[in-house]
Amino acid sequence: MNSLDQIVIQAQADFAEAEDAAALENAKAKYLGKTGQITEQMKGLGKLAPEDRKVQGAIINVAKEKIEAALNARREALADAQMQARLNAEAIDVTLPGRGRSKGGIHPVMRTWERIEAIFRSVGFDVADGPEIENDWTNFTALNSPENHPARSMQDTFYIEGNDTQGKPLLLRTHTSPMQVRYARMHKPPIKVIAPGRTYRVDSDATHSPMFHQVEGLWIDENISFADLKGVYLNFVQAFFETDDLQVRFRPSYFPFTEPSAEIDIVFGSGPLKGRWLEVSGAGQVHPTVVRNFGLDPEKYIGFAFGSGLERLTMLRYGINDLRLFYEGDLRFLKQFN
Ligand code: FA5
Ligand code: MG
Repeated sequence: MNSLDQIVIQAQADFAEAEDAAALENAKAKYLGKTGQITEQMKGLGKLAPEDRKVQGAIINVAKEKIEAALNARREALADAQMQARLNAEAIDVTLPGRGRSKGGIHPVMRTWERIEAIFRSVGFDVADGPEIENDWTNFTALNSPENHPARSMQDTFYIEGNDTQGKPLLLRTHTSPMQVRYARMHKPPIKVIAPGRTYRVDSDATHSPMFHQVEGLWIDENISFADLKGVYLNFVQAFFETDDLQVRFRPSYFPFTEPSAEIDIVFGSGPLKGRWLEVSGAGQVHPTVVRNFGLDPEKYIGFAFGSGLERLTMLRYGINDLRLFYEGDLRFLKQFN
């Protein structure tokens, strides 16, 4: 074995030991680099006689080709190994069950909200929106609630830190009725509006939630009567429940902001709730003092208002007996509505 054969064997061994591309390139430099062993051999050719140079040159080339072949083979092997490692790391197991992409859905109370807007818009009502943090005047005083009214107590109302401009504590609105005042003071009669939104009370059981939704309705003009309230509300519940097979009852009641006042009850002629009267709303003819607080002359303007519970309407529509189900976030319950 001559020294070139030894160089080839040594190079093959070095390449085989190289664990990655960088190590392989270092090993290559040892043989084929500027001062590599094969390169040095080539340089030595110049000192030989021309005929020896030719023979020796051919021998060196054979060795060089063997080294290059070993180098390329190792390069490919390393590249293959690297690719295999990547494929293993990024492997997709097509037999695994899919992660799925869950679809969002509309909450049943929001469905009720949307239906109510559509129904009232179709009979010419505007839709208004207002603040959930209210001041004392708009939530109570303007609506003719006396200073000592129980609804104003801490036991019934969530007060928040901070006072309004009159030094009275701010509160989370206890009903949507302050929207009557806000809207009427901003618009000229005829006023025909609904205002759906969130409301808050210190209240919690199967039919009462501390946060719930109401929709306020208000129609003020020169000759809007209780008879109009009956017609509008009957038309609404028939559209909302998609049946004529129900009756609406106006049961005498009391609210400081309406006179006369009524609770609106409904009863179905069929279905799971057949024959059971249920309260869905407060309502009445707007009190003259409240009309005056709208900035209008109660001798000239008259009309009705109502305030209905959205959770209550939703419970009736779907036959749900516990309102707390709406706010537990249980998908098994919520999915049934989508
Ligand atoms: C009112 O809130 C009056 N502002 C309604 C009104 C408006 C009367 C305009 C006259 C003119 P009441 O407190 O009864 O009234 O509430 C109205 C409806 O809201 C109830 O019929 C009920 O459906 C719903 N409601 C009241 N409290 C809760 C509660 N804690 N959780 C869920 N729904 C409630
Ligand atoms: Mg009531």
